[in-house]
Amino acid sequence: MFESYQIHSRDQYEKDYKNSLEDPEKFWGNIAEHFVWQKKWDQVLDWEFKTPSVKWFDGGLLNVSENCIDRFVKIDPSRIALIWEANDPSELPREISYLELQNEVCKYANMLQSRGVKKSNRVIIYMGMVPELVFAVLACARLGAIHSVIFAGFSAISIKDRIVDCEATHIITCDGTFRGAKCIDLKSIIDEAIFDLSFIKNVFVLQRTRQEVKMVEGRDVWIHELIDQQSDWFEPVAMSSEDPLFILYTSGSTGKPKGVVHSTAGYMIWANYTFINVFQYKTGQIHFCTADIGWITGHSYIIYGPLSAGAATLMFEGIPTWPNEERLWQIIDKHQVNILYTAPTAIRSLMVYGEDPPSHYSLESLKVLGTVGEPINEEAWHWYDQNIGKSRIPIVDTWWQTETGGIMISNLAGITESKPTYATLPLPGVSAVLKDQEGKNVMEAHQQSALFINKPWPGIIRTTYQDHARCKLNYFSQIENMYCTGDGAFVDEENNFRIIGRIDDVLNVSGHRLGTAELENAINEHPSVIESAVVGYPHDLKGQGIYAFIICQDTTTDHDLMTEEIRELVQAIIGPIAKPDKIQMVTGLPKTRSGKIMRRILRKIAEGEKSNFGDLTSLIDANVIDQILANAK
Ligand code: WTA
Repeated sequence: MFESYQIHSRDQYEKDYKNSLEDPEKFWGNIAEHFVWQKKWDQVLDWEFKTPSVKWFDGGLLNVSENCIDRFVKIDPSRIALIWEANDPSELPREISYLELQNEVCKYANMLQSRGVKKSNRVIIYMGMVPELVFAVLACARLGAIHSVIFAGFSAISIKDRIVDCEATHIITCDGTFRGAKCIDLKSIIDEAIFDLSFIKNVFVLQRTRQEVKMVEGRDVWIHELIDQQSDWFEPVAMSSEDPLFILYTSGSTGKPKGVVHSTAGYMIWANYTFINVFQYKTGQIHFCTADIGWITGHSYIIYGPLSAGAATLMFEGIPTWPNEERLWQIIDKHQVNILYTAPTAIRSLMVYGEDPPSHYSLESLKVLGTVGEPINEEAWHWYDQNIGKSRIPIVDTWWQTETGGIMISNLAGITESKPTYATLPLPGVSAVLKDQEGKNVMEAHQQSALFINKPWPGIIRTTYQDHARCKLNYFSQIENMYCTGDGAFVDEENNFRIIGRIDDVLNVSGHRLGTAELENAINEHPSVIESAVVGYPHDLKGQGIYAFIICQDTTTDHDLMTEEIRELVQAIIGPIAKPDKIQMVTGLPKTRSGKIMRRILRKIAEGEKSNFGDLTSLIDANVIDQILANAK
């Protein structure tokens, strides 16, 4: 099915790369032929980055759930689509065939429709990692509703912001979710988020933890009371290629998280193409991505990429370190996993336990390892290679972003070479360039610069929900006709890319994106805070830690108490992942004459630098630096 567009050699990679950029219409048109269309497209590609406006397969009609489910039911209804491993290893895993998936997704679609959900309505999904989350996502796709999954670690205030922004009318949630030793309330967080939102018509609640929850009459409904009476067939709705498939909120360098909008046809084809090529997936293999479906990695490489290729995708409810640090290795042997895709932060957290835990497992089923989310340090790369891959299988280091929909720069497992800490080569369709501030190309080896993409690929962000101007400003205004990634990178002599990390005001904490502005806004909500500045600093486990410099009112004397209050406040406004690691009370911040905070100095202080702050002539008062240094954490 996808074999004809899977890359099988280095030569073919070079050829496909060239063809994809020279004649994208022909290249992607040929690939799109392999999917199910209710009406074929009129034009493969129509684009300009000024507005921006990008249309792939315009005029076509299709349904993503049909492409992810029905076409494999026709081949073999009993083929396994989803394998679910519970948080608690003693709970039985679930295996769901493509036919069962079709039945469940149809029932969910019928349930949603019976309560008024229609094409293009927005549906919020706030659930733990249970198969029903996948049913809910695909049910939205089947009926044409736009899903917006919110990671089950975000606070009520964050959820409310998102619901209001996308004007969602329906919510799907669980009573609670198990994560390690914890049982986290989800329904009560939803209740808090929406208590004054009258436009919410229904909250569908899945029973998972069986904890007690409050049901609001007329609004809240139990899924188990509705689902059995639904028909197990729902005709897939014909969607236009450019209809939005989903909105996913992500942090940027300014203001509140923005709703990244992905399209139907382009996104699906990009998720599929990158999945089969990067991981070199072969029919019958089992793919295990450890991300949460609340993030883009879970969308593209637990759901849409693997299922559109007819793969068996494994989803795990729990965490790698509970009940002990052998959990991932145990899952791999138990389910005979072939592809493991995880994050450097997870690898580093397991490395702490040494070589012993993975040595108790054979791990022989593994064929490919992958990493995503942040730069992987050399030590973690080698540990992963030696202890998990037993130095016999390729590691793919995949660079991409929520906005890119799928993997952009990566080696192809066993086809193009890996190089520790390098994402290596751009995929076909990806025209990656390094630019200096004036927009000049910087492609000499080892010259660090800003990473841009100068042509559209099928999975590119289409807009930020209801704010196209913001999409343009954030991504298409830095250099004319270029998509700005916000990442810094350099190339080696063979044009392999090494990604350094964000060069804008976005932090990457344990692979999670957080904007410094978003963190500062939360901190500034504390009544005693006058001003704050947040920067990242290198953190052994998290990759980056959060360091907050805070000016508080003179009357505040108990700084320990205030530190604790601020940590709790940030948790309440954003979520536990956003709690600052270090908080330093200061009397002043290094500011330029125009009033801008010189973050580069704060970053250096946070990194432990004591001198060498560079040119300080534009600072109003350079003495604040000494004062900050005297109490640096
Ligand atoms: C970073 C996650 C280095 C990068 C898919 C990017 C990486 C941000 C890598 C996007 C990698 C992701 N090497 N850095 N292999 N993968 N990043 O939107 O800074 O959650 O801009 O998408 O993660 O994070 P996001």
